[in-house]
Amino acid sequence: MNNAAQTMPTATKDSPQTPEMGELTPYQTGPALTQAMLAHGGVALEWQDGQQTTLPLLWLRDHCACQECRHPQTRERLYLPLEAITEPPSLLLLDGHLQLNWQDGHVSAFHSGWLYQRRPNIMLPSAVPDTKPWEDSFTPERVSHSDFLTPQGEKSWLTAMLRDGLALITDGPVVEEEVSRLAERIGPLRATNFGARFDVRSKPNPNNAAYTAIGLPLHIDLPNWRQPPDIQLLYCLQNEASGGESLFADGARVVEALRQQDPAALAILSKTPIDFRFQDETHDISIRAPVITLDSEGALVEMRLNNWIRDALHLPLEQIDTWYSAYALLWKLFHSEAHQLEFTLRPGQMIAFDNHRVLHGRREFDPNSGARHLQGTYLDRDMLTSRLRVLARNV
Ligand code: OGA
Ligand code: ZN
Ligand code: ZN
Repeated sequence: MNNAAQTMPTATKDSPQTPEMGELTPYQTGPALTQAMLAHGGVALEWQDGQQTTLPLLWLRDHCACQECRHPQTRERLYLPLEAITEPPSLLLLDGHLQLNWQDGHVSAFHSGWLYQRRPNIMLPSAVPDTKPWEDSFTPERVSHSDFLTPQGEKSWLTAMLRDGLALITDGPVVEEEVSRLAERIGPLRATNFGARFDVRSKPNPNNAAYTAIGLPLHIDLPNWRQPPDIQLLYCLQNEASGGESLFADGARVVEALRQQDPAALAILSKTPIDFRFQDETHDISIRAPVITLDSEGALVEMRLNNWIRDALHLPLEQIDTWYSAYALLWKLFHSEAHQLEFTLRPGQMIAFDNHRVLHGRREFDPNSGARHLQGTYLDRDMLTSRLRVLARNV
């Protein structure tokens, strides 16, 4: 059996087209494949740069991007990989790309660079940055409003938002609804019981602490929802009142500090569900969930810290005091000067932050000393990552 294929070095007029993998994200143009052979129930591949890998037959069959296996318009998968492939295909290298002729007559073509990027155990490149906890020197990325309206500026802003969990837009117009216009460039506004777009100013008959003039200790918004909004945007229209400075602290950083200082407290706060609740005349929105959710590696997934939205603490008697002391320690860490960022938002500036990670608050202000007015809305994080991937397609 001839189970090895060698490169056919030069393209001829009769060569098939370069394989199309049905992806809108550009993939690497190379390196070319230099060898493909059947091995260990799969196909062993070698590229021009010496990298080698083996891909199982079913994986290869599953990733065929022909029009029968991937819908030509939607690019969605049509092939259903439920049966093991027992009959090996014959292998060909055409212009450095892989072609498999399956025993049932089906033909699959794979682009060498696409395969190269998908070697098992190798991270697929991504336009979306990893999250990075704040360091002592952290200052938020500032992108001017006019830069944000360009693809490069928007990309910088989105990258900072996803990496740091906080970013500013500066020098914007002082006009109502600008927050909605900016948000809608990214995705549809995420509506809540406070509407899709809300006004933060002291109001008569407030139904929320934010709508008073009192100081707001660090918190996330809407921890009483099963899915609190991902990203919050606050656009400053007026800030003449004395006080009202904005406060922020990075949950990713504070959770690390808590882990160092008192791992048992972190375990209590991440393993003990408690109740959160918002109630007014028309709503009663409540959820039971831990203050900190960690992933299987111990990294922060989400914070639910908001002391005024916390409901009655309903826990077994022997857990109550230990829960309160763990909570007090977390509170102290968040509110320590080393972890807090404080600045005054100016009219025409918009701060945005990851509401699952970065806590926000404000100092008390005096509504008799001048007006303070922010307009806010929320977005789903999926819309930020999507927008960044789309913008990255053209780089
Ligand atoms: C809010 C909030 C902060 C501020 O509206 O949720 O926390 O600066 N506002 O008023
Ligand atoms: Zn196919
Ligand atoms: Zn808030």
